[in-house]
Amino acid sequence: MPKSRFLPDVPLEDCNPRRQPTVWDLIAARPAGRRDCLRGGVAALLAGCGVASRAGTVTDPAAEVPPELAFDPPAAGPRPGAAAELARLGRRLGFTAPPMGVTQPLALAPGYSARVLYRWGDAVGLPGRVPVFRGDGSHSAADQALLAGMHHDGMGWFALGGERSPAESRHGLLAINHEYTDEALLHFDGMKQWSAEKTAKSIAAHGVSVIEVRAEPPARPGEAPRWAVQRPSRYARRITAATPMRIGGPAAGHPLMRTAADPEGRLVLGTLNNCASGVTPWGTYLTCEENFHGYFEPPEALDAHHVRWGLTPDGRWHRWHEFEERFDLRRHPNEFNRFGWVVEIDPYDPQSTPVKRSALGRAAHEGATCALLRDGRVAVFMGEDARFEYIYRFVSRDPVRPGGFAANRDLLDHGTLSVARFDADGRGRWLPLLHGRGPLTRENGFADLGEVLIKARQASDALGGTPMDRPEWTAVDAATGQVYVSLTNNSARGRPGAPGADAANPRAPNPLGHILRWKHDGDLGAETFEWEVFALGGEAGGDPFGGPDGLMIDARGVLWIATDHSPRALPAAPGERLWLPRNQLLACDPTRPGGAQPRRFLVGPYGCEITGPVMTPDCRTLFVNVQHPGVDPDATGAPGDLWAGAWPQPGLRPASATLVITKDDGGVIGT
Ligand code: FEO
Ligand code: CA
Ligand code: CA
Repeated sequence: MPKSRFLPDVPLEDCNPRRQPTVWDLIAARPAGRRDCLRGGVAALLAGCGVASRAGTVTDPAAEVPPELAFDPPAAGPRPGAAAELARLGRRLGFTAPPMGVTQPLALAPGYSARVLYRWGDAVGLPGRVPVFRGDGSHSAADQALLAGMHHDGMGWFALGGERSPAESRHGLLAINHEYTDEALLHFDGMKQWSAEKTAKSIAAHGVSVIEVRAEPPARPGEAPRWAVQRPSRYARRITAATPMRIGGPAAGHPLMRTAADPEGRLVLGTLNNCASGVTPWGTYLTCEENFHGYFEPPEALDAHHVRWGLTPDGRWHRWHEFEERFDLRRHPNEFNRFGWVVEIDPYDPQSTPVKRSALGRAAHEGATCALLRDGRVAVFMGEDARFEYIYRFVSRDPVRPGGFAANRDLLDHGTLSVARFDADGRGRWLPLLHGRGPLTRENGFADLGEVLIKARQASDALGGTPMDRPEWTAVDAATGQVYVSLTNNSARGRPGAPGADAANPRAPNPLGHILRWKHDGDLGAETFEWEVFALGGEAGGDPFGGPDGLMIDARGVLWIATDHSPRALPAAPGERLWLPRNQLLACDPTRPGGAQPRRFLVGPYGCEITGPVMTPDCRTLFVNVQHPGVDPDATGAPGDLWAGAWPQPGLRPASATLVITKDDGGVIGT
């Protein structure tokens, strides 16, 4: 999210009260469709549904695939020939970086092409009435609910096609998050004369799109395919901040989740501020609710729980509560607890009810990266993007079963959530959030496991998790077992009363961010690990970057880094500023001796962040999102002064958009 006047940076990302020195300061020194998933089993799903995998099978190199999960799939993962080619290519990078000082709005490595596939206001492809988008913001709320929402973020790829053809990388579904809205862009006259219609339109512009996409074969061999959104599509769906969804797991039905409209505490309307995401081994999409606190009118008197979760007397960003009373905490205090969750969506069934998976904990969730353990259970790695917040891991109680979502409907409702502690000696430990263990007792304010999960920040404070520099995306390297996390920045570290530098967050302040990685002592479910700083923002030995955010490891093992920093020079060393006016997508071989050496692949339009990178299993198509292009953090708010450009629609308002990127010769991306 940008640092715009609509999205104040302080204090909503900054609510961990541990301003006194902590121990850490003291240390400071699928290509298959649903039918195929049902037939193919879990290994097919792993490869076919986009879980990071070099060999197209399982994610954890320590994993010995249980016999019942073993599956030799022609219908899953890249075609055998393509898999062999990816293995042969390895992690090698073969492209030339475009210059940062480009004059065109979007720059790519030579030999690659990008097309706008799906931008704010494009039809999602639902059958029936054709909605109308007006680029001046004058379209209706009812139409917005049938159109692409604003500010695309995390994505997931879900293959269609299966055994009918090797089309698993040419035909599929994209699930796309719409993180937030800029009301000045969304409505013809911005926030003026705020109304029920504007509230409904804002709610409709949030959430998730599911679109069907297909690549037509190239006209001639040696050319790239041309991608298009299929309209109409029986899979097309818009989920918004008003879509009914179920609560699953230990917090379902909890007294803290009950409201006047939902006295049983099991049904919520909507998901919002959907940031990054994940794809499960059984072929569902995990969308993550991040800065939910900015949507509520706070109660008259804030208690410690409110403060710990970012509520301030004047901190809200929206005026939804004026026409949707559930967002008014003076009247419905528990509605606040019903957001901040990871939401599971079955993209193959547009009639399905999304489920908020409370067992994964409540947080300002960034993403949820899934990987299988040796015994078939699933681990989910999650960062909480706020200053001095935490990194989490969920491990399921039960192993994944063959049979797709139908066989794993409640898998994410049972398991153990843990918070990461990074010790100064390079060792680390997962600290479980279990009720009744250690400080997580009724006497300390945790009545049961549900309350532990609803108050995961307080529980992590009590356990001694390591407060981090805004943890964003995580990624798992299937070949090495290493887990990566981007720490985007923390300008408050080292301020008076705030934690200072520690081993895992070594710069105070930290305006450029960094990337950590760790390797478990065993499989990805082990209790302990070894960690190291992988790359510091700034000069990491290759092309400079700041504000690492999106991370993706493709099927070759190449690590892709998407950045999100303010469009201006960044403070680097004391007295120096790093000239990074625009955000980028970079690639590196994370196993390369001598450091990350990232190489710039794409430079985005002015004002945007780059996010959501996802590849087809054959690595020949890259989808990536351009979010909030043209937004100027120095805008005054005067008419016409909000945006600095109109990408990708000259003459209209700027629009976030999904790009599809191919190599001009149809080859593997990054080679
Ligand atoms: Fe939604 Fe932390 O980026
Ligand atoms: Ca992000
Ligand atoms: Ca970010």
